[in-house]
Amino acid sequence: MIDLHAHLLPGVDDGPATWEEAQELCRQLASQGVTGVLATPHFIPGRYPDPRHVRELVNELNGRLRSMSCPLTVYPGAEAYLDPELPRLVAGKTVLTLNDAGRYLLVELPFERVPSCTENVLFSLLSGGVTPVLAHPERNAELREKPSLLATLVERGALVQVNAGSVVGEFGPQVQRFAGRLVHQGLVHFMGSDTHHPRQRPPLWAAATARLEQLVGRDVALTIACSNPSTLLAGDEVISPDPEPDFRRGGSFWGRAFSRFLGR
Ligand SMILES: [Fe+2]
Repeated sequence: MIDLHAHLLPGVDDGPATWEEAQELCRQLASQGVTGVLATPHFIPGRYPDPRHVRELVNELNGRLRSMSCPLTVYPGAEAYLDPELPRLVAGKTVLTLNDAGRYLLVELPFERVPSCTENVLFSLLSGGVTPVLAHPERNAELREKPSLLATLVERGALVQVNAGSVVGEFGPQVQRFAGRLVHQGLVHFMGSDTHHPRQRPPLWAAATARLEQLVGRDVALTIACSNPSTLLAGDEVISPDPEPDFRRGGSFWGRAFSRFLGR
């Protein structure tokens, strides 16, 4: 299985502070069945790690994992905070795309709202040949209120990564319900542990994959946890299923009705 979103590199963001913590995080991921993980340090324009430094840290971590006989491969990436400058920064290679391949970019929205520039930024990326992958949209309050906004972004080409922690309730029942709803409606393409620290914020991968299987069955769970991210790493196109029709109508009424139906 492949984890699309993790803060694994020491000293570059609010992830692990030391190599020991980084190695422990990797041990935990491997023990939960993860074989590949994208290291995605926070990228905030004006305050970001140098891509060359990230590549060096990824190489160093992979060397350490080999010497520990840890069966996990780390790939470079970034979690890019939504900003009108992103398309220019990506084109100038100032921000790392996923697996440094220039094809997919992990994009984080603010937690409370969907900024007015969102569509323009995402579609400017798409028109430049870079597919945006929205990091944990289930944690965004405005998208929880107006889920049709997310369906529209996906219909127009964006992809979605849900957090493992959200699926199992780490961020509360509202976020968990919405994450489950997104999975059910075919609006989730990848899962990420978004792990930051082996004790304060460990990966909850094994529990989340078990929950995914309960929600949508083994085939869809494997598509999210294995085949879609493998396709991404190979640089190929990840195919997005059409969202369920009731999602397009969106609105909080449908969210509440669906949640009641699911009993979650
Ligand atoms: Fe993150």
